[in-house]
Amino acid sequence: MRYDLIPNTLFKKNRKKFMVGMKPKSLAIFNSNDIYPVSADSTIPFRQHRDIFYLSGADQEETILLLFPDAMDKKHREILFVRETNDHIAVWEGAKLTKEQATAVSGIDTVYWLSDFNKVFFDLMTEADTVFFNTNEHYRQAVETQTREDRFIEKCKKDFPAHQWAKSNPILQQIRGVKEPEEVEVMQQACTITERGFRRVLNFLRPGVWEYEVEAEYLHEFIRNRSKGFAYTPIIASGNNANVLHYIENNQQCRDGDLVLMDVGAEYANYSSDMTRTLPVNGKFTKRQRAVYDAVLRVKDAATQMLVPGTLWKEYHKEVGKIMTSELLGLGLLDKAEVQSENPDWPAYKKYFMHGTSHHIGLDTHDYGALKTPMQPNMVFTVEPGIYIPEEGFGIRLEDDVVIQETGAPQNLMQNIPIEAEEIEELMNG
Ligand code: GLY
Ligand code: MN
Ligand code: MN
Repeated sequence: MRYDLIPNTLFKKNRKKFMVGMKPKSLAIFNSNDIYPVSADSTIPFRQHRDIFYLSGADQEETILLLFPDAMDKKHREILFVRETNDHIAVWEGAKLTKEQATAVSGIDTVYWLSDFNKVFFDLMTEADTVFFNTNEHYRQAVETQTREDRFIEKCKKDFPAHQWAKSNPILQQIRGVKEPEEVEVMQQACTITERGFRRVLNFLRPGVWEYEVEAEYLHEFIRNRSKGFAYTPIIASGNNANVLHYIENNQQCRDGDLVLMDVGAEYANYSSDMTRTLPVNGKFTKRQRAVYDAVLRVKDAATQMLVPGTLWKEYHKEVGKIMTSELLGLGLLDKAEVQSENPDWPAYKKYFMHGTSHHIGLDTHDYGALKTPMQPNMVFTVEPGIYIPEEGFGIRLEDDVVIQETGAPQNLMQNIPIEAEEIEELMNG
């Protein structure tokens, strides 16, 4: 791995928390992701499934984690199955986990080769009544491919028709949403790498450069800091492109007088960072751009203050909407009559700010995490208001990642990434 290994204390704690949520006489199975094909013999670089990584730290294809807290034989309470390596694989693909390494990474004492899985699994299924399957229930999921997990579930249901089935996802949603200190530390590293990319771009941006050149500056800095690259497809959107929320072409020239919205984050050790900054291409905001920029920043700061234990996600979004409404009135983008007659299901401010303010972030950029119960300490959220004005040729979004504290304001993992308009101008002209 390119990254420094995460202490296996994290994965031990995570497994313990997961197993507390299981039923008596149940076992749970977690599969690696497939390596996805492109065509001919080319493949997309492997990206581990976040759940098996969260519970074991195993960052390798064809790995299976089995958890069975009530197993009669103590050594079968946690088992990691890894692909058996050999000299041929070592020459062509490079090193794979040995059993000893798999134990060191995960903190799991019992490691078997994958070829033993069917035999061991059949034996343990005779002791178990219920199997926990890991289906995807993320609130934004729209997956059309059949994953390795899906194939496993299909086969298991056929092979063991008399067992009961249960869902792992509700447990994972709860526990993955509240981060351990080791996770916050890794996320801070991801944010620091993003900061390095941003500072490089502050020196690079000028009229005439192309959006993809800006993207390349980030990637260069990310990779030389031991990141695999972008945590999600980056958006480098100059001028009116910023008003296309999921603009990812990044193929236009940045023009004098325009702003460029950059929604970019480095991954590190499979954890995401998620930053947005909006810069003036020529290093100086116009008066109007600055007024809108400062309004977005005020909304962001006010929203951040609300991310405290007890806050309800839905209420929070309503409050942010009210603050945004008052800023839009101040900017002359809304008038009072429009606000008074607004549809409560689609308030007037949505014309200029049509997406959510926050999402959980962690191993996934749009991470797992409870959204219907009060916020808790050590949840990590983005804060990302924006104002998009196609008729004026620009859009502004600002986004940081913050950790909810026991008391007081959240800890901002991006506090060192310049955001005040004056500081931005100074750095760009320094
Ligand atoms: N970059 C994706 C998001 O901000 O949610
Ligand atoms: Mn973002
Ligand atoms: Mn985001």
